[in-house]
Parts: sequence; structure tokens; C-alpha cells
Amino acid sequence: MIEPPSYSARWRARLAHLNLPPSLLTAAPSPSAVRAAEALPGTVLDVGAGLGDSSLSLAEHASSITAVDVDAAALAIFRERLGHPCLPVTTIVGEWPAIADAVPPSDVVICHYALYATRDTAAFVRALTEHARRRVVVEIHYRHPRAWPNRLWRRLRCQPNGPTANEVLAAVTALGLAPRTERTRPGHQMTIWWPGTAPVDTQAQPPRGG
Ligand SMILES: C[S@@+](CC[C@H](N)C(=O)[O-])C[C@H]1O[C@@H](n2cnc3c(N)ncnc32)[C@H](O)[C@@H]1O
Repeated sequence: MIEPPSYSARWRARLAHLNLPPSLLTAAPSPSAVRAAEALPGTVLDVGAGLGDSSLSLAEHASSITAVDVDAAALAIFRERLGHPCLPVTTIVGEWPAIADAVPPSDVVICHYALYATRDTAAFVRALTEHARRRVVVEIHYRHPRAWPNRLWRRLRCQPNGPTANEVLAAVTALGLAPRTERTRPGHQMTIWWPGTAPVDTQAQPPRGG
């Protein structure tokens, strides 16, 4: 009997059809993609998934992806880009963490550049943590990306207040967990990862390491 091709092989074959430039296919993965892939294979939950750029870099390692976003149109594009017979994709329209009870846990939870509009960083971070069986990986700026024209925002009375890396670190530490960090681009962005607290799925494939 012929063995079915592995998921990675099928994904590579699909990438070949997309005609992506070789520079993109051979580019070094981002620190956040490396930290998430360390805790895979397994299921992925992408909070604030947008058009799917962050999930795309994990598609080879994921057995399924759940994407949450407030923007239904973005999630339609997410399904179009990521959808493939060998990669089950579920999209859920809603605001995190209010929608969290309707979202099943995953092995790895990622949340990249989607924490800025939250009013309650602690609740947002706690819900991410409670939905991850193995690891949460967040990418965020050191400073709010629109902080530079703050004098202008103050004049317009709509200064952006979104949390930055230090506030996320404080929220994770307050949960009694030890976050680890790596600079994504010196001076601008940070990858933060920490262990999840969702009950472990004993049927799942073990991660490769770390
Ligand atoms: C800058 S985009 C980042 C998209 C994707 N994570 C990436 O790295 O390419 C931020 C996305 O987060 C979504 N978003 C922001 N706050 C959210 C919240 N509280 N709940 C769900 N989605 C949110 C926005 O609609 C947007 O699609």
C-alpha cells in the first residue's frame, strides 16, 4: 500500500503551485514563527488573525488552525489564503477576550500585533493563556506604533493607549508565569512567549521540543 504523502510534503507541493519568489521561500523564519514551531506539530489558534500572514508561516507545522478576528472580511481572505484540504481552518468573528468562551483551546496560541485596541490587557492575556495547552507567542511593539505623533493625538483627544511589550510582560508575570523575550527588530518589536495553562490533550502528537 502506498503511504499518503506527509502533511509537510503536501504543503510544500502547494507552495510550489503558488509561484512564490525563492527569496520568500528561503527567508529565515521570524523569531515568533520559530518559537511557535518549537511547540508544534499540533493545533494553532491565531487571535487577531487578520489576513493570515502569521498563520501562513506555521501552516506546515499545524494540524488545524482556528482564526479569531473582529473583521469578517479579513477572515474571508484568511480562509481563501490558508484553506486547503489537508489543513482544517475554522474562522470565528468576534472580539477577544469577549468571544473567548466560544473558542476551543489549541496547542499553540499566537497573537501578533492585535493587542493595541484592548482596554483590559490582563483579561486579554489571561484568555490567551487559558486557551493554550503548550505555548502562547505574542508579537508586539515596544512602543505603540502610533505613539510618535502623540502631541497631535493629544490635541485631537484620541491619543492611542494600546498596551506595549512591558504591559504584556507585567500581565503574564502577574499570572505567576515566566515570559521569555526576543527582539524581533531591534528597537521596535518584541516576541514574547510563555507556557499555556489549558488542560493537556493526551491524544495529541507531542511537540518537537522546548
Ligand atoms: C495589525 S493586524 C495583524 C494581523 C495578523 N496577526 C498579522 O500579524 O499579520 C491586527 C488584527 O487584529 C484584529 N483585532 C484587533 N483587536 C482585536 C480583538 N480585540 N479581537 C479580535 N481581533 C482583533 C484586527 O481586526 C486586525 O485584523
